[in-house]
Amino acid sequence: MSQSPEKKPSPAASAAVSAPALWQQLEAVAQALHGILGGQSSKAVLGQVPQRLRPGVQALLFQVLRQLGRAQALQKQLAPRSPAPKVSALLCTALALAWDEAQAPYPPFTLVNQAVEAAKRGAARAQSGFINACLRRFLRERDALVAATESNPVAVWNHPAWWIERLKKDHPQDWQRMLAANNAQPPMTLRVNRQKTTQDQYQSALAAIELKSQPLADMGLQLEQAVAVQVLPHFAEGWASVQDAAAQAAAPLLLDGLRTTAAPLRVLDACAAPGGKTAHLLEYAAPGSLQVTALEIDAERASRIEDTLGRLGLKAWVLVADASRPEDWFERQCQGQLFDAILLDAPCTASGIVRRQPDVRWLRRESDVAQLAEIQARLLDTLWPLLKPGGRMVYCTCSVFKAEGDAQVQAFLARNTTAQSLPAPGHLIPGKADKPGCVADNALGDHDGFFYALLEKSR
Ligand SMILES: C[S@@+](CC[C@H](N)C(=O)[O-])C[C@H]1O[C@@H](n2cnc3c(N)ncnc32)[C@H](O)[C@@H]1O
Repeated sequence: MSQSPEKKPSPAASAAVSAPALWQQLEAVAQALHGILGGQSSKAVLGQVPQRLRPGVQALLFQVLRQLGRAQALQKQLAPRSPAPKVSALLCTALALAWDEAQAPYPPFTLVNQAVEAAKRGAARAQSGFINACLRRFLRERDALVAATESNPVAVWNHPAWWIERLKKDHPQDWQRMLAANNAQPPMTLRVNRQKTTQDQYQSALAAIELKSQPLADMGLQLEQAVAVQVLPHFAEGWASVQDAAAQAAAPLLLDGLRTTAAPLRVLDACAAPGGKTAHLLEYAAPGSLQVTALEIDAERASRIEDTLGRLGLKAWVLVADASRPEDWFERQCQGQLFDAILLDAPCTASGIVRRQPDVRWLRRESDVAQLAEIQARLLDTLWPLLKPGGRMVYCTCSVFKAEGDAQVQAFLARNTTAQSLPAPGHLIPGKADKPGCVADNALGDHDGFFYALLEKSR
């Protein structure tokens, strides 16, 4: 592989233009990586990065997380005895960014020089000679070192081995493209607020400020390029929201086909924060035709539902409570009145949205899947009795694991004779939609991984 010092900086590099020095950013990325490998989320570690460095550091950190399996495999060859965690974090940062010249945000030799500088000036000072030796050898022997990692699936796919195995078993036809999609940059997708404008009009408003977009499903627009929300026409007045195309399938699935009555339909959004789907339900229905109760266990997150609805000019009743303990809130707060429809967007591993949250794959443990599946089963069982006969429930998760999707719903149907399953998208595979015949997947463009089931209660 040849080096190209003239190479144009990638978007990650451009985002970092105003930052003072690359070595400072690399040091901050390595510290953030160290925090994530110690169990903290990327949101938490990025919160500790000085404001002026944050955009550049985030862009580089996300790239590192998407290449971490490869970097760790390369490091194992360069340093067979595991170095101290902070040294390893800096080595992996440099290797993740530099191993593939086509995707490197800066020329590999620049990255190596700057990583060595970061070592000399930062937390890995005592080991800077060792880091220098490893990275110089990497530059000299890069092709052979990379070739030696090709038989290691963790290096090739940049996911933990258990995750790869689970996807192979759950999606034997699709696992490779799912893993590849997880390592790509996600598009920015909008949901147009049909109470304020139309999909066509909003697309024209975007075009007027030179933002190209592609219409998706009912009210979606996928932007050709991500922008800050402040740039979007009438964003503050609630004309549009940022929401992945797969998440936009919930409201139509629950509300289309529900029998309307003279009184507003009573809808429970059982796990509601930050309120993206609560808002979509209210935007989608005719004004005044829904009475939505938005339940959320976490008070701080519940306040974000109010913010979301406030900007859009919508109203729901926000309740801070545990959905799995209706004895605390159903009689007292809802007067024991059954719901016409329930949306259960259950807590899950988030295995479908790792392209947006690239830390998730490294933070999750395999045992989390069974633990979360147990919580989801409990939520299904406790909320089902709160549904009117003839009422409908959408069960969804932003997971691609069958234990949190198909298998969960099949087990629920087996123990509930009052539930029947209606046509629904099932498992949506992340990346570009290519599942013809599926109810919602055809029109969704490039979307996250999701699972949807629609259940109806017998009369
Ligand atoms: C997948 S997120 C929901 C996303 C939301 N529906 C949206 O579209 O913006 C799951 C939410 O459920 C909440 N949650 C988890 N367990 C809960 C419970 N037992 N009762 C109520 N909310 C719960 C979490 O705090 C989290 O905010």
